[in-house]
Amino acid sequence: MTAQLIDGNALAHKIRAEVAHRTAALKARGVQPALSVILVGDDPASDVYTRHKVKDSTETGLAATLERYPATMTQADLLARIRTLNADAAVHGILVQLPLPRHMDTHKVIETISPAKDVDGFHIASAGALLVGQPGFWPCTPFGCMKMLESIGCELRGKHAVVIGRSNIVGKPMALMLLQKNATVTICHSATADLGAITRQADVIVAAVGKRNVLTADMVKPGAVVIDVGMNRNDQGKLCGDVDFEGVRQVAGWITPVPGGVGPMTRAMLLVNTLEAAERVT
Ligand code: GUN
Repeated sequence: MTAQLIDGNALAHKIRAEVAHRTAALKARGVQPALSVILVGDDPASDVYTRHKVKDSTETGLAATLERYPATMTQADLLARIRTLNADAAVHGILVQLPLPRHMDTHKVIETISPAKDVDGFHIASAGALLVGQPGFWPCTPFGCMKMLESIGCELRGKHAVVIGRSNIVGKPMALMLLQKNATVTICHSATADLGAITRQADVIVAAVGKRNVLTADMVKPGAVVIDVGMNRNDQGKLCGDVDFEGVRQVAGWITPVPGGVGPMTRAMLLVNTLEAAERVT
């Protein structure tokens, strides 16, 4: 069997078109959805990511501004800026790019963002809302993975979903989203004794570790759906995921490629969250 590809670029394109449509409807009612992106310091990867976020936003009709501050910015100044944006009714979403300079307390910074504008879904209030199944913003990467599963008509009820990785921004929220859809969920991590024994039982596998070849063909049940959140470089410097793509695609039913899988979906879901932040207050 050769797995079918879940095309993240195509799905993200469709989602951006829907966002553009809903944004136009809001604008017709006099509301301009707006995202403020804050970048502190000059990390090259963060520079690229934040410019993409602003470009994606403006291309879909959302207003987006990128505020850049030097790595020497004080935490007090950053918190003051966030509080000003919290109080600004013309701003619907606030995103502080991570990582922050080492002298800053990331947790404190995120908790200063108003939950109503937390389009990253990183605030404890957002995490709590997801935990108890109340409305709130879902972190963009696992939210995008759920959209990919939905796009292929994957019925999660009663299925065994295995999440590899337990980060606060992917693994844990991913597990909760799958649980909300009535999957039986197992979270595996670095201390899991026999990863393959567990993944071989899975109907759906989400790999979110940040390490190459965490999942190989012998660890996958024939026909399983495999979502690869990883973003790594191989020995040739080429972008690759956590999954041994060439091997696993021979066994899986569906698989996401890297690049062109989860990455574009993460970017698209930020637009969805920003639009929803604007829709909720209007
Ligand atoms: N750094 C890497 N990914 C992200 C993200 O999704 N949001 C923020 N705020 N920072 C990041």
